[in-house]
Amino acid sequence: MKPLKQLCTPRDNVFDVQRRDTVLDLADLLEDRIQPGLFFETNFITEGMRTLLEQGFRRLEGKSSQGVFKLKQAMGGGKTHNLLVLGLLAKHPEFRQQIMGRFYVADPSWGPVTVIGFSGRESDAPLGIWGSLAAQLGVREHFRDCYAPLQAPGQKAWENLLADRTVLIFLDELPPYLENARAKAIGDSNLAKVSATALSNLLVAVGKEACSRICVVITDLEAAYQGGSQQLGEVLADFEKELRVSFPAVDSTGVHQAGAALTWPNRITLKHRGYQSGSAKRMELRAAPEAAIWYTTDGSDPKLAGAAYDGPFIVPRGAPLVLAYAERDGVQSAVENIPVSWEKEESVRVDARRAAAWKREARLRQHKGVLRLPGPAGQARRGGLRPDHHDLGRGQQPRLGRTEHVRGQARRI
Ligand SMILES: Nc1ncnc2c1ncn2[C@@H]1O[C@H](COP(=O)(O)OP(=O)(O)OP(=O)(O)O)[C@@H](O)[C@H]1O
Ligand SMILES: [Mg+2]
Repeated sequence: MKPLKQLCTPRDNVFDVQRRDTVLDLADLLEDRIQPGLFFETNFITEGMRTLLEQGFRRLEGKSSQGVFKLKQAMGGGKTHNLLVLGLLAKHPEFRQQIMGRFYVADPSWGPVTVIGFSGRESDAPLGIWGSLAAQLGVREHFRDCYAPLQAPGQKAWENLLADRTVLIFLDELPPYLENARAKAIGDSNLAKVSATALSNLLVAVGKEACSRICVVITDLEAAYQGGSQQLGEVLADFEKELRVSFPAVDSTGVHQAGAALTWPNRITLKHRGYQSGSAKRMELRAAPEAAIWYTTDGSDPKLAGAAYDGPFIVPRGAPLVLAYAERDGVQSAVENIPVSWEKEESVRVDARRAAAWKREARLRQHKGVLRLPGPAGQARRGGLRPDHHDLGRGQQPRLGRTEHVRGQARRI
């Protein structure tokens, strides 16, 4: 096998002291400090980058319902670089054919696209992420009610800001920003929570018809900034609760292929819980994400003859099953078939002739990896066990049994 040294020839500029130490930042793009010609000389189009360019441009041209993308790679994996490539092509139409021509034909009459963004390195942004984005669009005052104190703009406010515009929005380095923002109190909340709400609202707004030419690209770090990454994860998870969205994770190194970027209708699942309430049986239903639920208790199709669910209901005695389904925005769950058991119900009767006695079974108990064995003789003893502790390590899974049985005064029949 040939060594790397023989296989690769470094570019001249690798040895250029002025350039080799420069890692470009999002601010360099937003403030037009990058010369696209020079930049593209050393750009390598990876599989993931190609997907991002293709899908990003489709969105900006109003040809795709896919408006949010997340780039996730390890540190130094090329996340910011991908943003710069997409941003430069959006800003400089004259490079589109040369760089993307092999895989995407952008409309030649299409001019520059507005690119705005927020880098989490701006930990001191006085007006929050929303203020910074609005200011770049020249309408800082749009969110004036959300600056003092800082509070999250709602979905409608975002929608009004972005409606009928064609804008590329980059959110880079958010995990360290959110991590840091946790320490900044706002009333009884903090800047991280407020920012997360603002971002969730932005993502929802981007899914609306009026924002069909808005494209948001978010980068996330693998592993570092646990708290911040988790918070960003929550924002995206929140976003997933919406019913018609998608954001494939694009791996710019091309190791993992990005999936086809189509709209995913979210799935609605129905959960149920039956319980005894006095002498009646009740059924509680829940749809995730939230949706309207219809049900029947006579075996008929709930889609045709279902009653609208508005809280736990009494199941009519003898009904063999409950059929239910949920629907929202045209997305339907499967019809859930919930069998109802009417077997003889258990009851407790007191037998006054028998003395109460406690009996314990000599079985193993496990608690947090420590396996507890019964006391020295393992015998039944009033007043409880005095267990020996034996750490048998992980992986041992003793069969656990119910350890106490009551016989006597109160007994099950
Ligand atoms: N496809 C590519 N073609 C040419 N250079 C690249 C490519 N991808 C990444 N690089 C270069 O690799 C370096 C690291 O990339 P970049 O700064 O984008 O990584 P990152 O994932 O944003 O890192 P961080 O986690 O530190 O923010 C940069 O100098 C960038 O120009
Ligand atoms: Mg980066």
